[in-house]
Amino acid sequence: MIDLRSDTLTQPTPAMREAMAHAQVGDDVYGEDPSVNTLEARVAALLGKPAGLFVPTGVMGNLLAVLAHCRRGDEVIMGDRSHMFLNEGGAPSVLGGTAARTVPTAPTGELLDLAGAIRGENIHFPRTGLICLENTHNYAGGLVLDAAYMAEVAALGLPVHLDGARLFNAAIAAGVPVSTLAKDATSVMVCFSKGLGAPVGSMVVGPAPFILEARHWRKKLGGGMRQAGVLAAAALHALDHHVDRLAEDHAHARQLAVGLAAIPGVRLAQPRVDTNIVIVDVARPAAPVVEALALEGVQVVGVGPTLIRFVTHLGIGAQDVPEALGRVARALR
Ligand SMILES: Cc1ncc(COP(=O)(O)O)c(C=O)c1O
Repeated sequence: MIDLRSDTLTQPTPAMREAMAHAQVGDDVYGEDPSVNTLEARVAALLGKPAGLFVPTGVMGNLLAVLAHCRRGDEVIMGDRSHMFLNEGGAPSVLGGTAARTVPTAPTGELLDLAGAIRGENIHFPRTGLICLENTHNYAGGLVLDAAYMAEVAALGLPVHLDGARLFNAAIAAGVPVSTLAKDATSVMVCFSKGLGAPVGSMVVGPAPFILEARHWRKKLGGGMRQAGVLAAAALHALDHHVDRLAEDHAHARQLAVGLAAIPGVRLAQPRVDTNIVIVDVARPAAPVVEALALEGVQVVGVGPTLIRFVTHLGIGAQDVPEALGRVARALR
C-alpha cells in the first residue's frame, strides 16, 4: 500500500526511536523536564519569539492561542476553508465562548475581505479579538503565504495567530528562515507530527505573558504532561534531521502533480504545487474513486465532492511516485 492520505501517518524512524529511548526526562508540569525545556527554548528562538509551550496536538495549540488572546464573546476571524474552522470541532466556541467570523479564502490561501470583517468600537458589536492565518494552507493544496502578505495582515493592527502546522514546509519551499514567515504573527503554532515525522507533539510560541496564559489553559484542559521529554526528544531529532529533507517531499509532490495531470479526466485543482500536498479534481464523485484507488494499493482522501488529496511525506520514497501514478492510471482507466 502506498499511503498518501496525510503526512501525519509517518512512523518514527529507528534513529528517532533511539533518541526517544535516551531522552533525559523530568516532570514537565513542574517545569523540570530538560528535553521539553530545551525544545521550547529552541523552537521559540527558531521562530523569533520570546517563549514556547509544548502541547500534544496542533488542535490544542490553536485552541490555547484563542483562549490566551481572547475574551468570551470575542469574534475570531478565520478562513472559511481553514483547518481551525473546518476540522477542530468548533473548539474555540465550545471552550472559549468565542465566535468564528469566517471570511472567504482565495484559491491561494489568503483571506479575502479581511478588513471589512473587523468590528468597529460599538457596544452592540462583539469585539474582534484575533485574526487566524494558515501557512502552508492545507485545503489550498499546501500553498505558501509569503512574508509580504503576513505583513499586510499584521498592519491591520489586531493580534494575528498563525496555524503553522506545516510552517517548516513553507520555509523550505520559500527558501527563507522559518522566523521570516513567523515575524508578523503574534503567536504561532507548529507541528512536529506532520512532515517532520515525530509521532506526537506541537508547539505554541509567542510573547512571554501570552505563553504563561496558554500554560494555565493547557493545565485546565488536561494537557499538562509529565515525563514528556521522550516526545520532545523525537521533536528535537526531527529538527536536526528532517527539516531540509522536506524539499524531497516537495519534489515528489511536483512529480506526482505532473503525472496526475497527464491522466485523462484528472485536473489539478490548485494553481501551483509549492509543498507536499496535491489536490486534483476527478470530475466525478470522489468517494468511489478513493475506493478504487485503495483496491489498486494507493490510499488517498476525498476533500470535496470531486476532489482528492495526495500528500507526500517521510514514508514515501522516490520509487513510490511512479508506482503510485501507474496504479492511479489503472484505477481510472
Ligand atoms: C493546517 C492544520 N492545522 C492544525 C492541524 C491539527 O493538528 P493535530 O492533528 O496535531 O491536532 C492539522 C492536522 O492535520 C492541520 O492540517
